[in-house]
Amino acid sequence: MESFFYQLLLVGIFLVTFPFPLPSSSSSSSSFSTVPTRHFQFNVEWKKVTRLCHTKQLLTINGKYPGPMIIVNEGDNVQVKVTNQAARNTTIHWHGVRQLRTGWADGPAYITQCPIGTGKTYVYNFTVTNQRGTLLWHAHYSWQRASVYGAFIIYPRMPFPFSAPVQDHIPIIFGEWWNADVDAVENEMMLYGGGPNTSDAYTINGLPGPLYPCSIKDTLIQTVERGKTYLLRIINAALNDELFFAVANHTLTVVEIDSVYTKPFTTSAIMIAPGQTTNVLLTANQIPDASTGMFVMAARPYLTSVFPFDNSTTIGFLKYKTTQLEREKPPLPPYSLPSNLPSMEDTAFATNFSNQLRSLASADYPCIVPKEVEKRIITTIGLNLQDCPVNETCKGYRNKRFYASMNNQSFIRPSRSVLESHYWKLNTGYASDFPEKPPHVFNYTGVDPVAENMNTEFSTRFFEVHFGTKLEIVLQDTNFLNPENHPIHVHGHNFFIVGRGFGNFDIDKDPAGYNLLDPPERNTVAVPVGGWAAIRINADNPGVWFIHCHLEEHTSWGLAMGFIVKSGPESFQCLLPPPSDFPPC
Ligand code: C2O
Ligand code: CU
Repeated sequence: MESFFYQLLLVGIFLVTFPFPLPSSSSSSSSFSTVPTRHFQFNVEWKKVTRLCHTKQLLTINGKYPGPMIIVNEGDNVQVKVTNQAARNTTIHWHGVRQLRTGWADGPAYITQCPIGTGKTYVYNFTVTNQRGTLLWHAHYSWQRASVYGAFIIYPRMPFPFSAPVQDHIPIIFGEWWNADVDAVENEMMLYGGGPNTSDAYTINGLPGPLYPCSIKDTLIQTVERGKTYLLRIINAALNDELFFAVANHTLTVVEIDSVYTKPFTTSAIMIAPGQTTNVLLTANQIPDASTGMFVMAARPYLTSVFPFDNSTTIGFLKYKTTQLEREKPPLPPYSLPSNLPSMEDTAFATNFSNQLRSLASADYPCIVPKEVEKRIITTIGLNLQDCPVNETCKGYRNKRFYASMNNQSFIRPSRSVLESHYWKLNTGYASDFPEKPPHVFNYTGVDPVAENMNTEFSTRFFEVHFGTKLEIVLQDTNFLNPENHPIHVHGHNFFIVGRGFGNFDIDKDPAGYNLLDPPERNTVAVPVGGWAAIRINADNPGVWFIHCHLEEHTSWGLAMGFIVKSGPESFQCLLPPPSDFPPC
């Protein structure tokens, strides 16, 4: 009874205070049940946007930057009609949505689908099953994610498992802004094999904030009421940088990561990698300074690489509602950063933060981690150098060209989607022999950063498993050129991070220390710099699934592979047939 009222209360809160109402729903009935369908229209179009006094044409959805929010209920059928009105190929990915049997709607270009061409339309059609919380959507074609991204929010069927009454939901979406055209940045990087030009700003909800030139007017000011608790839905949609985030004088209580509830814990700041989401509770329980009523919120990179990077800081303000005249302008400089914001090289903070993440593992939200595994893949993740072809200019280290790889395979996108090749049994354009171990054993995280150039192979390799395989993947960072924290994302499945550590994974010792009770469940793992992470997956979603670093520069260089889950014997274990409007190649 009590929970029933609580639910009513929550529904009321959503209706009253959430800035975006649920879209209209229609019902489509099957013979067993009625599933509401939510319809969305996404027009891919150019829009002139100005930041830092630079005006440029941005690729957007419906002219919005960041893009529109998708808000649905757990269990809904979702249909997003994407109409491409720009002279660019594109695809959209629903990052973290499991796409049970509907791999056709997953979105990564040439993995599950060919791009949606100019003037074409494709309806992404899928059902959000047994997931609730905050995710994101983004373009999955070259670097279009720079401006084509937004929140994907799933309201839970049951009340939140935490007790604090939530006054409102506040999306906090980090992105990256380039004054230059992002296509040009990527093209130049691929042409010369050097590192990409770094971004000019980080943004919160598309706003860089007052620490950048010509940017005071583009500052987020979020109003809160004193004494109330808010659910911050924090999303890192930046292309190439892990971020620390903190709010001056306030603590954050983490309650969910990647749309999975966690055991709540309170922290002074968070670390969030590209592709990850983190829901935190924030209680406005401080006494704001009387003249402004504001507290600084700030995000800046967590730096683990020796490559040039954008070392700037984006800030916004948390503004306590006062009875006096409301000013919606940021206070005058100087601004001091929150003292609880970790410094850029604070690996100790990042490690300690990750170690506190635990699945809720309750009766309502069990943690179904495979206790035994049937297949274990150990793969290196890291960078490579390739000799410069004669008569070309190369701008990577030692005048060579940068690439990146997993088990020495630098991923090349095929020209037709692997999902189609697999479904129609064409067996072309890819191979199913991704190596299950590093091809060459060395001290992966040893001291000499240039001794082990593995001369990567270029390939389109996947590994294949039968339906329901209990799978373990050990991701081993290498320090070739430099060790780095890589956020590895798996499509189509969540996984459990059963172990992590620094140095080299030791198959004889490390599995004994695995957490098989309440490991964090997510879709993107930040593999420790100069270390490893072991993830376990119930491979129970038939289809073709991309696995890649969510730092876009590394994906461009080939830090990717994928796996194929074969359909099971029962009809409900089979990949559905492709929809009739599936984009042709
Ligand atoms: Cu969010 Cu394959 O990516
Ligand atoms: Cu990476």
